[in-house]
Amino acid sequence: METKLVHAGVAATSTELLVVFAVNTADKKVPDAKAVIELVHSDPALKTATARAFDSGEFTAMSCETLLLHNPEGLAAKRLLIVGLAAPGRKKATVHELRKAAGTAVRFAKPRRIREATLVFPTSADLDARQTGRALAEGAVLGNFDSDTYKSDRVDRTLTTVNILAGNGMDSALIEAGVQEGIIVADAQNFARSLVNEPGNVLTPTVLGRRAAEMAKTAGLKAEVYGAEKLHELKMRSFWGVSQGSAEPPALIVLTYEPENYKPGGPVMGLVGKGITFDTGGISIKPADGMEKMKYDMAGGAAMLGAMQAIAALKPNVKVICVVCAAENMPSGTAQKPGDIQTAMSGKTIEVMNTDAEGRMVLADGITYAKNLGATHLIDAATLTGAVVVALGLINAGVFSNDDETYAQFASGLEVSGERFWRLPVEEDYRDHIKSSIADIMNTGDGRWGGAINAAMFLKEFAEDTPWVHLDIAGVAWIDKAKPWMASGPTGVAVRSILEWARSYGA
Ligand code: BES
Ligand code: ZN
Ligand code: ZN
Repeated sequence: METKLVHAGVAATSTELLVVFAVNTADKKVPDAKAVIELVHSDPALKTATARAFDSGEFTAMSCETLLLHNPEGLAAKRLLIVGLAAPGRKKATVHELRKAAGTAVRFAKPRRIREATLVFPTSADLDARQTGRALAEGAVLGNFDSDTYKSDRVDRTLTTVNILAGNGMDSALIEAGVQEGIIVADAQNFARSLVNEPGNVLTPTVLGRRAAEMAKTAGLKAEVYGAEKLHELKMRSFWGVSQGSAEPPALIVLTYEPENYKPGGPVMGLVGKGITFDTGGISIKPADGMEKMKYDMAGGAAMLGAMQAIAALKPNVKVICVVCAAENMPSGTAQKPGDIQTAMSGKTIEVMNTDAEGRMVLADGITYAKNLGATHLIDAATLTGAVVVALGLINAGVFSNDDETYAQFASGLEVSGERFWRLPVEEDYRDHIKSSIADIMNTGDGRWGGAINAAMFLKEFAEDTPWVHLDIAGVAWIDKAKPWMASGPTGVAVRSILEWARSYGA
């Protein structure tokens, strides 16, 4: 899809679908629509074209609500789509609502065979021009993604062009920079989604390694992809233990970004991703119901690869190392068993209480390796626990950190990314939960409670003193039900937040 900024008058713009955004400025729950709908644009022609529709009261401008008008009065556009931005009482448009609204417009157009659309850039003075340009482009590109890639009768309904229409007098350099950034970021997020969407028989650890290397080559990143031998050489017994039951060899994927004229000495960001291409649970096998979903157990790794693609294009002034630990967790005659003890690369011994707690085991060695490669700050992402879904549902992902300053830096990036994370604790009092009677630690907690925290405590043992952020994205990496702005399937969550965090160290 081509997404570009155009300058023209609204009324004279010929387009299949002109998209304009509106807010509901009511204080009340059930608004009097006549009085409260306001376009986020001051163009008089748009005001005239929408007046009767707004007067009818059938449109209340709620978040992602749509109203379509054919042959709108006084406009050259074939159709006018009005997209709502906010619930009553919120009054002002936000860039995060605009991202969703742009996606909603694209997803409205797709099934109706509309191939081209023009989004009218809002004139509201409260909106930052660059962030708004970015949000509109991001929303549009993300909305254009669908996960039906393996349907033999698939009809490609992707939009070919989305123009963003800015008026004269707007700061076009800022908007243009935002639009370009939005395209880069959303393409990176869609790349992550395309990986997560692949079934386990297609996307084996080796294939994930190949796809990462291909992306790295195109993006201009250094890539190394290692197999089982390297795991043995590095003494990654924890990582290897997970993969040993599978006929598919593991892959240790290492991508490196160095800014131009890089001088060693500054911070080095270490991005570590869980890349379980299929999680059966291993010998502690999962129930059959819903097991097919476990192809998305590499979503954390995919998020890191997506973030690297965007980093390569946006070129922050900081070195970034990405380590993805890819393996298939299978039961077999060679699989690890409950009670086995593995010695991790760091030297710590782990009692394997449950072979389904495999994500933390591959990440343990990934974290140690990233530190050995020079990472001074760590972030990991993983579909790590069912417990985080119990705690936070399908809206927020969990975030954990051993360092308040590093967490604050991550949290400030959320204002740009618009992604939702909720901090959970990793206080030392929880350490008892992962104590083993035979080894240094065990890979599950000793009770039913606080499972997401126990997993984070396990990872903390390997981050040690290095500032570290852990993202448990199990509840939000996949959606079964489509949203108005996003297809069902992989969400590509965390790409944007990881990117902002890494960038914030090299601004
Ligand atoms: N991949 C799962 C976690 C998961 C659950 C991801 C639901 C997405 C949706 C992980 O490897 C796992 O199985 N964790 C276990 C840990 C337990 C055995 C301590 C869990 O959460 O049940
Ligand atoms: Zn598991
Ligand atoms: Zn898993």
